[in-house]
Amino acid sequence: MYPQLKSSKLFVGILLFLKINSIAVAQPNSPVAKGLKDYYARYFPMGVAVSPQSLKDPKQEALILRQFNSLTPENAMKMGPIHPEEDRYYWKDADSIVAFAQAHGLKVRGHNLCWHEQIPKWLFYDKEGKLVTKDVLLKRLKDHIDHVVGRYKGKIYAWDVVNEAIDDDSTRFLRNSSWYKICGEDFIFKAFEYAHAADPKAILFYNEYNTERPEKRERVYKLLKKLLDAKIPVNAVGLQAHWSIYEPQERELIATIEKFASLRIKVQITELDMSVYPWEKQARALRDGELSTFTPEMEQKQADQYAMVFKVFRKYKSVISGVTFWNISDKHTWLDTYPVRGRKNYPLLFNQNLEPKKAYRSVVNFK
Ligand code: GLA
Repeated sequence: MYPQLKSSKLFVGILLFLKINSIAVAQPNSPVAKGLKDYYARYFPMGVAVSPQSLKDPKQEALILRQFNSLTPENAMKMGPIHPEEDRYYWKDADSIVAFAQAHGLKVRGHNLCWHEQIPKWLFYDKEGKLVTKDVLLKRLKDHIDHVVGRYKGKIYAWDVVNEAIDDDSTRFLRNSSWYKICGEDFIFKAFEYAHAADPKAILFYNEYNTERPEKRERVYKLLKKLLDAKIPVNAVGLQAHWSIYEPQERELIATIEKFASLRIKVQITELDMSVYPWEKQARALRDGELSTFTPEMEQKQADQYAMVFKVFRKYKSVISGVTFWNISDKHTWLDTYPVRGRKNYPLLFNQNLEPKKAYRSVVNFK
């Protein structure tokens, strides 16, 4: 045996040993393993909705930093929490999320500036308790947007400016919210103008749910077209993607992405989760005997559904500029309390111990 050959064999042997071992220890949460953001580096940023508390928990913090490169504050920037009184803002929670993102080089999506839910009590009323006029409400909206967008200018790259303005009733167009009752459709137009003035570089989104259902898709399209025709600075549409193992169908998802892409705007998946139950709108209590276990059948259906939607996202990577999950793991999801109080749901890629599920593998195993 030539000594050189012998040592090179040894060298290859050592390399092989190290490789095998690094695969063996490369659990998805370990510091040597790739995360979602790495698998999707050539596609789009991978984001997650967070609370300030989750960023202080070392295990969740490690998972976030391993897997994601974009954050959305789950609640901290909504008008109710961040602007509790007309002349008082509460910045602490929102600031802490932005500071965390800056410290770790993560992107931030701002969520949201104008919505009919989670609004502060004072917003629509004057001191006598009467509804304010359109002028007063638009002035309040402008002040709010100036303060919030202005504070994070250059740190938040995209804003959900208007959230869920389309009516749930498919025969109607815009939702009959207090915003609409007082301002008509102008509140939508103005919100985008104010946001653009406050940060001309921010990418401005209209964000909506059930956008894959044809009747909803058409109405969202109609609104976006109207805004674009009026030269309103809306740059993108957010598909919330609160989906389930039963919907959407692949063809509906594709039809939606193509329809919005035809407006030459970007599309983001802004609040992705995959419920293991069929969609329900009305909140209700758990029924007698109603189970909430994660069955192997649900697990498989969920992995298949996640594989399908990510296959579509990859195919449309020139249109899709980001994907964000709504919550980190099945340990905590808003779907545990809504629509059915007390029914556990399992909609995310990580289980209650923060370990990757079958669905995780179906998202990262692609060619
Ligand atoms: C909507 C909102 C989100 C969040 C979810 C449920 O989709 O846009 O901010 O509140 O509902 O948690």
